Amino acid sequence: MALRPAPTVRLPHGAFIPRIGLGTWPMDNAQTADAVVTAIEVGYRLFDTAQNYGNEEGVGEGIRRSGIGRAEVFVSTKFNKEFHSVNGVRQAFENSCARLGVDYIDLLTVHWPIPDQNTYDDAVRGLTQLLDEGLIKAVGVSNFKPSHLQRLFDEGLTVDVNQIQLDPRHTRDAIREVHGEHGIRTMSWSPIGRDSGLREEPVIVELATKYGKTPSQIILSWHVQQGFIAIPKASSRLHLEENLDIFDFELSEDEVQQLLAMDTGETDILQPETFGH
Ligand SMILES: NC(=O)c1ccc[n+]([C@@H]2O[C@H](COP(=O)([O-])OP(=O)(O)OC[C@H]3O[C@@H](n4cnc5c(N)ncnc54)[C@H](OP(=O)(O)O)[C@@H]3O)[C@@H](O)[C@H]2O)c1
Repeated sequence: MALRPAPTVRLPHGAFIPRIGLGTWPMDNAQTADAVVTAIEVGYRLFDTAQNYGNEEGVGEGIRRSGIGRAEVFVSTKFNKEFHSVNGVRQAFENSCARLGVDYIDLLTVHWPIPDQNTYDDAVRGLTQLLDEGLIKAVGVSNFKPSHLQRLFDEGLTVDVNQIQLDPRHTRDAIREVHGEHGIRTMSWSPIGRDSGLREEPVIVELATKYGKTPSQIILSWHVQQGFIAIPKASSRLHLEENLDIFDFELSEDEVQQLLAMDTGETDILQPETFGH
């Protein structure tokens, strides 16, 4: 089944990003290339990868194998802490371009802030230079907390996207409030909660029955209705189709709130003070 590509949303620096994309962790290069080819057939135009996933080559191969034009797809990738400097980011960009087989990157992202190293601001400075030169279309950070973003603001830096772990059990209110105040787009990783636990929650199962949709579709609609960009990972054609086929119904405001009320706090999410690369 070929679906209409997801609607896009404008990022602060002007790029347009699809509201649903394909997450590629933890697939290897061969699995990623196959998934990207199928996803493009289905209607996906946004692909999320990272240096750390070891599958940027697979994303590039899938795009080329599909025959789609470079300008038709939005490529998101991320780099590790050894590149957290102005010159380092340029090197990370060149490395990712070589692995992806592209000459520009739509969204390049600081994967983790690594507060102990404390040079994530230089990384964002490096990204801003690449943006000014037209080599990337948007500046990304990931797993940043309010204090990390505040430091960027204090230094006159701005970003387009913060990619964070976010689902109805982890609604991340404090960081989303900062995003809202500064026009930063929220990109949700593990948007459907990774394992099946969230998808089996009675509230979600009931809504799935009500709308004739699957639990994953209910959760993904919840993300996009609130303006988040979601990047569910899926390997089968069935899951890929399901996750994109969410733009023909809407949860009510009460139902959006019902899912927000499932929040269990932030104690079991990965913390950038103790995790990152
Ligand atoms: N920035 C970061 O630090 C960070 C960290 C982690 C992840 N990410 C990104 O976020 C992406 C998504 O996160 P995630 O993979 O952790 O979690 P997720 O997307 O919430 O969940 C993926 C799991 O859900 C299954 N699934 C997908 N669609 C489904 C459907 N319609 N029905 C039932 N099951 C379905 C997948 O199975 P199948 O594969 O069998 O379809 C897979 O096991 C990653 O791939 C990666 O790109 C970023």
